[in-house]
Amino acid sequence: MTFKLSPLPYAESALAPAISARTMEYHYGKHHAGYIDKLNQLVQGTPYARMPLAEVILKAARDKAASDIFNNAAQVWNHDFFWRSMTPGGGGSPGDVLARKIAADFGSFDEFAKAFAAKAAGQFGSGWLWLIADDARLQIVSTSNADLPMVSGKHALLTCDVWEHAYYLDYQNDRAAFVETFLDKLANWEFAAERLAERRSAGTGERARMTGR
Ligand code: FE2
Repeated sequence: MTFKLSPLPYAESALAPAISARTMEYHYGKHHAGYIDKLNQLVQGTPYARMPLAEVILKAARDKAASDIFNNAAQVWNHDFFWRSMTPGGGGSPGDVLARKIAADFGSFDEFAKAFAAKAAGQFGSGWLWLIADDARLQIVSTSNADLPMVSGKHALLTCDVWEHAYYLDYQNDRAAFVETFLDKLANWEFAAERLAERRSAGTGERARMTGR
């Protein structure tokens, strides 16, 4: 076993009712754990088995023969990042530094929230919604399937999983209600602020930091 499932930063029931324990049981215990199991099967006996997770992602992204490895490795990283992007009692407006940055780059927090919701609505099929720091500016981007900002050298601050498995048990097909709840009740702005501070102090050093084991 090369890669291991990281523990959740809170109990499976800690985000309820915004995200039910049953959703977490399946999302973390089946989907996330499933990506780990599949990744371990795929890398067995290959050079990827000896690499940190971020290196697997970056190398496999450039290797057409390794698309399955890329997809499973990226989904492991994305889910780890998603769990840390939420916190019990989270949501609402961020703290001072990030609030000022969001106001500067989006006009206001409300404008940011509208743009985040619109991006979620416009995402066709499965994917991820991200707040990223691109050079000096914050941006909202979406990625399809397992894709993630790291591959294009972008630094993620926060993510929301918009695959149906993230919300279907609790919200059925109402992705908009899930994304609204993510912003109102779940977003871990302290984590996003820490990620912004890392970006400012270390440039883009994603490859060095995210050893991912
Ligand atoms: Fe997911």
